[in-house]
Amino acid sequence: MSHTENQKKIRTKKEILANLDKISERKSFNFELKGLTRTTRDLLSDLIDKILAHNNIDNPEAGFHIFSSMMEILLNALKGNIRFVIYKDELLKKLDGGKPGDKEAEQLVKTILTTASLRDAMDRYVIPEKLKTSVQTILRLEEKIRVKKLQLDDDEAELLNSIRDLLDKGDYRICMKIVVTKSDIYIRIHNNVPIMLDDQDRIMSSRRVHHRLFLEGRSGDFFRPEYLDEKESAGLGIAMVDEGYYNLGLNPIDLFSVTTSSKSTTIYMKYPVKALQEAKPL
Ligand SMILES: Nc1ncnc2c1ncn2[C@@H]1O[C@H](COP(=O)(O)OP(=O)(O)OP(=O)(O)O)[C@@H](O)[C@H]1O
Ligand SMILES: [Mg+2]
Repeated sequence: MSHTENQKKIRTKKEILANLDKISERKSFNFELKGLTRTTRDLLSDLIDKILAHNNIDNPEAGFHIFSSMMEILLNALKGNIRFVIYKDELLKKLDGGKPGDKEAEQLVKTILTTASLRDAMDRYVIPEKLKTSVQTILRLEEKIRVKKLQLDDDEAELLNSIRDLLDKGDYRICMKIVVTKSDIYIRIHNNVPIMLDDQDRIMSSRRVHHRLFLEGRSGDFFRPEYLDEKESAGLGIAMVDEGYYNLGLNPIDLFSVTTSSKSTTIYMKYPVKALQEAKPL
């Protein structure tokens, strides 16, 4: 993870940690993340606590919601990037007729990926279940070496390296910008892969259902089994962010947006300072 200041000075994680008190007084932060390690999470948690303190927000509930929402959205971006490179690779393998490096197949993949209708047709062609398992495998291998400090066997190492290589070559990044003004705290998280059309539709409609339940005074019911999507990814992450807003008495439909194009996904989260100062713990 690195942080760029207004003067475009790039700091490493170590440098940020050593200067966190001073840095947290700033009004604008830019981060570039490659993963979501324990140190990165701790650092962001401390940073949020300090930003809230500088803005006279003495509300642990608010800190908790902002931090957990940020983690959820960053994790989505991380998984989204991994899923997309695997998906692209699978597609290429299907189209290159066993000839790696086939320029025509590469061009075809590019066209498919930038054309929404083709991309979604292909989405059904590349088996989602397999894709999901592959993403989980990669995350598990990352954890095995980073957290558990275990050795990977040859096959595992080869798989992980091939994905890391694809991520590096394709310049898949996650950028986060935090802006603090007198009235609001803004968080923008950006990654350079799209949300698939099916998922977009699912996200939109579940957010609507959740909002309707909120208006009926029972937003928490959204997490009951009868409302959960039966598909593999339940869309719980985004719902959890929404629920955080509802619990703070804020309307996520106005303050939290998920936008995506054929090339990228951007999430905006806005928190009015005054509302955070006044929000009562549940
Ligand atoms: N930044 C992103 N880039 C690409 N796809 C995304 C991104 N954020 C969300 N998605 C897509 O939107 C879906 C819904 O996200 P959400 O976090 O609500 O689901 P989830 O229950 O956490 O499941 P998942 O484990 O797939 O994240 C994800 O499954 C993913 O396909
Ligand atoms: Mg998620």
